[in-house]
Amino acid sequence: MSVAVIVGSQWGDEGKGKIVDLLGIDSNIVARFQGGANAGHTIVISGKQYVFHLIPSGILTPGVKCIIGNGVVIDPIALLEEISMLKQHGVDVTGRLFISHKAHLIMPYHKLLDAANEAARAKGQAVGTTGRGIGPAYNDKCNRCGIRMMDLIDPANFEAILRTNVVEKNKILSLLYNADGVDFDEINKQFAEFRPQIAPFVVDTTLMLNHAIANGESVLIEGAQGALLDIDHGTYPFVTSSNPTTGGACTGLGIPPTAIKTIIGITKAYCTRVGNGPFPTELFDETGEKLRKNGSEFGATTGRPRRCGWLDLVALKYSVMINGINEIALTKLDVLDTFEKICVCTSYRVNGTETADFPVDIPSLDTVKPVLTSLNGWNCSLAGIRSYDALPPAAKEYIAFIEKFTGAKVKYVSTSPDRNDTIVR
Ligand code: GDP
Ligand code: IMO
Ligand code: MG
Repeated sequence: MSVAVIVGSQWGDEGKGKIVDLLGIDSNIVARFQGGANAGHTIVISGKQYVFHLIPSGILTPGVKCIIGNGVVIDPIALLEEISMLKQHGVDVTGRLFISHKAHLIMPYHKLLDAANEAARAKGQAVGTTGRGIGPAYNDKCNRCGIRMMDLIDPANFEAILRTNVVEKNKILSLLYNADGVDFDEINKQFAEFRPQIAPFVVDTTLMLNHAIANGESVLIEGAQGALLDIDHGTYPFVTSSNPTTGGACTGLGIPPTAIKTIIGITKAYCTRVGNGPFPTELFDETGEKLRKNGSEFGATTGRPRRCGWLDLVALKYSVMINGINEIALTKLDVLDTFEKICVCTSYRVNGTETADFPVDIPSLDTVKPVLTSLNGWNCSLAGIRSYDALPPAAKEYIAFIEKFTGAKVKYVSTSPDRNDTIVR
């Protein structure tokens, strides 16, 4: 039995897609457990790039089964677009894609509410969401008025829940946000067209997954976003609306914690963040600009420039703790190739006192001054290096520093976007 969970250890976009694709090759099943099409997971194989928002990053390996679990919120438009994109690339998902009958749908009104809510927030309070309707969809799930996949495939039930929601959402849109509402008939007709296209994929994935685990199959679980965007443990309220941390894998798939053996934290060799909210090591100077340029730091979902800064070891150690990360996959080490000196944050100064504990309250995080330790750069190209021994001493020292500080082993080192340019130690 082998169940491994892959989580983002920072603010998302750490390179989860690349590592899931790589490790997916040796898996029977790859499963997503939370988030939705706010995710953008990039995979590069022999120069060809794919970006997945909903379908697990194992889909490009023939024979691997892919599950979208109950914890994911699914926009059928994004899902069908992705299925059709795969078809164009010669990948047929029939018999390989399985969607939980308990997963909730993202409806057109969720996207309108997402935009309206962001616009209505006071100055400085907008979250900077991806606009994919994620928050409002999870809101309905918790409020017990959401529409699930099992409701979609039952037309009478779907219509009844949709009707109630349209009445409520139109009131909110017009009275609270002074925005246009939605039309019941239009949505009902649109979703009637989606129904036969999606229904064949809808199954009891909880049962499927637990049977697979009991049969000793190898399961790889793919997180979206990252620990610091976690609704409970992240920099609330500047977070997403799900639990991207390891615990979310159990609730988002219906598997017991005791099944999980390996927890891999995908960690960028520096830090980035899209959207608003605290980012203690953010660089506003030419060094930050250089990280953005060298790392091509523009969002895979929205195209927004990512905010960039040095590796924050205080935040990473916190992430290792709350996720139980026992292996780190260090990505984009090659992006640091031309930096003479590379800094890492080893403690925070908060209100005059120094701490190595990550505070999650916004007033503290807003006033945090990162205490940086400067390490030597390697000043040569790491691009494409596939063996640990071939790394220059300064790169090995950087890796050793991260291991010592966090207590987690750096098992994988990624040296280019390509699937194969990865060191496995
Ligand atoms: P995810 O959301 O965690 O899957 O990450 P994204 O796909 O949003 O962003 C990661 C970006 O970095 C993508 O464009 C990847 O192709 C790229 N990438 C991944 N690993 C490496 C690496 O080791 N080096 C470089 N230069 N780029 C990488
Ligand atoms: P992957 O899986 C980076 C951020 C948004 C915003 C906040 C809330 O590719 O790492 P939401 O639309 O979820 O309500 O937005 O979360 N965000 C991400 N940032 N990578 C992601 O996914 C993200 N998904 C959401 O920018 O700050
Ligand atoms: Mg991404």
